[in-house]
Parts: sequence; C-alpha cells; structure tokens
Amino acid sequence: MENIIKDIDIISAEEAQACDYKTTEDENTGKAKKLYIESYGCQMNFSDSEIVASIMKDNGFDTTSDFQQADVIFLNTCSIREKAELTVRKRLSQFNNIKKNKPELTIGVLGCMAERLKEKLLEEEKLVDVVVGPDAYRDLPNLVSEAEDGNKGVNTFLSREETYADISPVRLNSNGVSAFISIMRGCDNMCSFCVVPFTRGRERSRDPHSVVREAQELFDKGFKEVTLLGQNVDSYKWSPEENNKARLNKKDDVSTIINFAHLLEMVAQVSPKLRVRFSTSHPKDITDEVLHTMKKYDNICNYIHLPVQSGNSRVLEMMNRTYDRAWYLERVSKIREILGEECGISSDMITGFCSETEEEHQDTLTLMDIVKYDFSYMFYYSERPGTLAAKKYVDDIPLEVKKRRLNDIIQKQSQLSEERNKLDVGKIQEILIEGASKRSEEQLRGRNSANKMVIVNKGNLKKGDYALVKITDCTPATLFGEVIS
Ligand code: SAH
Ligand code: SF4
Ligand code: F3S
Repeated sequence: MENIIKDIDIISAEEAQACDYKTTEDENTGKAKKLYIESYGCQMNFSDSEIVASIMKDNGFDTTSDFQQADVIFLNTCSIREKAELTVRKRLSQFNNIKKNKPELTIGVLGCMAERLKEKLLEEEKLVDVVVGPDAYRDLPNLVSEAEDGNKGVNTFLSREETYADISPVRLNSNGVSAFISIMRGCDNMCSFCVVPFTRGRERSRDPHSVVREAQELFDKGFKEVTLLGQNVDSYKWSPEENNKARLNKKDDVSTIINFAHLLEMVAQVSPKLRVRFSTSHPKDITDEVLHTMKKYDNICNYIHLPVQSGNSRVLEMMNRTYDRAWYLERVSKIREILGEECGISSDMITGFCSETEEEHQDTLTLMDIVKYDFSYMFYYSERPGTLAAKKYVDDIPLEVKKRRLNDIIQKQSQLSEERNKLDVGKIQEILIEGASKRSEEQLRGRNSANKMVIVNKGNLKKGDYALVKITDCTPATLFGEVIS
C-alpha cells in the first residue's frame, strides 16, 4: 500500500506531528448499510481497519468514501503523541453537525485512543456512540446494533490471544500492488515514552501458516509485494504446542519454534515474484539469522527500519530501549557486513526527551552521520499519560528547544538522504511500479528494493510491473531513472 505517513521521506516538525489519515474507498455490493472508516497512526492501524471492514462486511455493510452517505462512521485512532489525539478530537467536532442533521448516524471511536480513554471518551465526546479497542473488533457489529437501538457501548477488553488470523482483510489501503499482513499484535517492550503497550496490550504472534496463506492469496490475486507488520517483528515467536498461549522459555524444543527468520523465509518462498518487506525491527532483537535470510532471498527487500530514538546511551537507558549506542552501531555494522552498503536503513528519532542535554542531542547527530540513514521519521518528545516516563521523569525541555533540536536532525537527515541517493545515481536497479507519479500522468513511480521512490517515464509499463532502471538523477527525497527493460 501507499505508506501513509511514511511516504514523506523527510518530515518537518509540523508534519511529523500532523498524523495523516486515509479513508475507506467505495465498495458497492448492494448491501443496505454504508460504513465510512478514517484511519490514523501507524501501519498496524491501517491494517486493522481492513479487518474491521471485513467484519462489518460480513454483517451487512458496504464501505463508502463519502461520510455524508454513511450510516456508520468509524475513526480508527492513534495516541502516540498528543497532537495525534488532538487531530481526532478536531475531526470529531466536525462530525457534530452531520450528526445533528442525521441523529440515526452511529459514530465509533476505534483503536488506540479508544483503548486509552475508554468510557471517558463517551463522557467527553457526546456524539460518540461506541468505543472499541484494538482487540475487540469482533464485537463491533453487536455494539453498532445496540447503538442503533440507542444504547451506547464500550469494549476495550485486551486479549492475550486475539490475532484475527481467520479474518480475510478487505484491502482498503491498497494500490493493488502491495499489501500489509499483520504477523503479531501488541508489544511487551516498555519503552518509557511509549503508550503502545497500554493501548495494544501483550505481544502475541499469529499462526505462521495463516500468514503464508494470506501472502499466497494476495499473490494469486495479482499483488506483488507484502509488508509483514508488527511493533517488534524480531520477537515473533510461535510454537504449535503452546499454541502461542504463553511466552516460551529456554527449555522449549527449538525445533518446533518458528522465529521471525523462519517466517520471513516461509513468506519469501511463496514466489520469487512476490517482494517481502517488514516493519519494525528492534535494535535489541534483530538477529544475524534474519540478516542472512534477507541475503539468501532476492525477493526480500534490502531495507531495514531500525529506529534508534537517540544516539546517546544515557538517554537510551532512560528511554528503556535496552541497548546503548555501541550496541546499535554494532548492529548497523553487521547489516553493512552481511547486506552491503546499499542496504537501506531508516530510523525514528525523538528530540527533547526528559533531561536531554545539548551534548546528548549532538550524540544523535553524530550517530546519524555514522549510520548514514536513507531517511528518518523524526519527532519531538510528547509526554503521554500513564507511561513510565510520565511517572518517573520531568518533561523539562522547553518546546522551542525540542523544536530546534528537531530541526537540527531534520536538516541533518536531508543532507544524508541526498548523499545516500547520490550513491545510487548511475546504478541499475529493479523497481516495482506502484502507479502514476504525483506530478505527471506521463510518469510512473516505483520503489527500489531499498524502499526509495523512483520516477520513470511511462513507456509501456503499468502498475504492478517490475522494471530494470538506470538511476540518472536524484533529490533528497526521490530518485529518477530511465527504463532499461
Ligand atoms: N515499535 C516501534 C515504534 C512504534 S511508534 C519501535 O519500537 O521502533 C513510532 C515512533 O513514534 C517511535 O519509534 C518513536 O520515535 C515515536 N514516538 C513514540 N512515542 C512517542 C512520544 N511519546 N513522543 C514522541 N514520539 C514518540
Ligand atoms: Fe513502543 Fe517500544 Fe513497543 Fe516500539 S518497542 S511500540 S517504541 S514500547
Ligand atoms: Fe498510534 Fe496505536 Fe499505532 S498509538 S502509532 S496507532 S499502535
């Protein structure tokens, strides 16, 4: 799919906080009722909206891209930064007028904000009828039907087992070429700044066979790329005996355990013509085995999203990332050693975390220089209620300082992106065409293995084709190429 937020290679301070969204498209199978979904936040949320659409479809709803036509409006929300929540609140207030003229309209808040605020959302946002957390989507048809009878409802039960493995997602976010496959849910890390463990619950991995089946079905339908999704894909772990009910301990028979490297290999074997990507890798967990598996299969893309958050070891410790600068740099060296200089590496970074000094901020800049990220998603710290950092530390860096530091890293990243892109000029690369370029119908855009956007002239190519191109020029955000074959 189009990477909604992540399409923006270098994001400004404001954009980074803006939290883009995407809506459902029209699907008309003649069903009586219409559902409109707007999704915010990370790829997991966009992927979840596809599960929600599938559950609702089985209960008599078509999707619509026009909220004026909708009987039910869902906002699938994000809590990661304060701004993300404010965006949703603003959007809800815009729906107030519609609801006034159409009182039978059902409005639901789904996702991470629903999970974080629970009943409070019903009190604070009077127009909301249902509040449903990420593990309770199977209950949506029931809650919507109750709401139609005038009974508001909340279900924010967090499960240790739910993976929606049996649900065939309605591909709302797809360009017909690439699709998301969620391979796990939740997160057991406790990064001190992060709200995700509270909104998404315990980590659990999905049955690998259902993942492979979904990849195969997508390929059979003409899809050419899948992205395996999880907050920390490297801790994927599944064992048939345990049926994944409990986390496994050291005594486990390793031969029966499927780890992320195995899963990656299983998906890569669906077809050499199906590209495989994944996100997100955690620096503490990414193994050499995963890197070797990437090396072994040409169709596993040569790109790793490896968020560092900070380049300073004291700050990393306060963030509870459980690695330090040296560990991170060792992992990057290993990536370069096994996968070569051309492997794309991107990062997430937070400026102005509690007590971060100017020198510590400089450490982030020097680390960026060493790693030479292809691109990064950059944010200033936003304190989230209930997180470890909110309880233990003071959010003491003034907003102007956070923003100035953010600008420093944005500028650094822009230089690095250009430097990295220049290295591609003159090279021959395979790209997968995703559609028309944003600027001209005569040009197409595709992605190379390292996840960079390449613009080429249309020629005889169409969406979903692979093409060999020679890279001729670049900007910090885009490559330009000539089609060879
Ligand atoms: N699981 C992923 C991150 C998911 S959240 C990982 O561990 O890398 C996406 C990004 O949002 C994070 O990497 C972090 O850079 C940013 N983020 C999370 N909480 C934040 C906060 N409180 N303030 C600012 N940025 C935050
Ligand atoms: Fe949040 Fe850390 Fe989990 Fe990522 S790994 S989702 S940053 S707690
Ligand atoms: Fe946001 Fe929830 Fe994703 S907080 S980033 S939508 S997991």
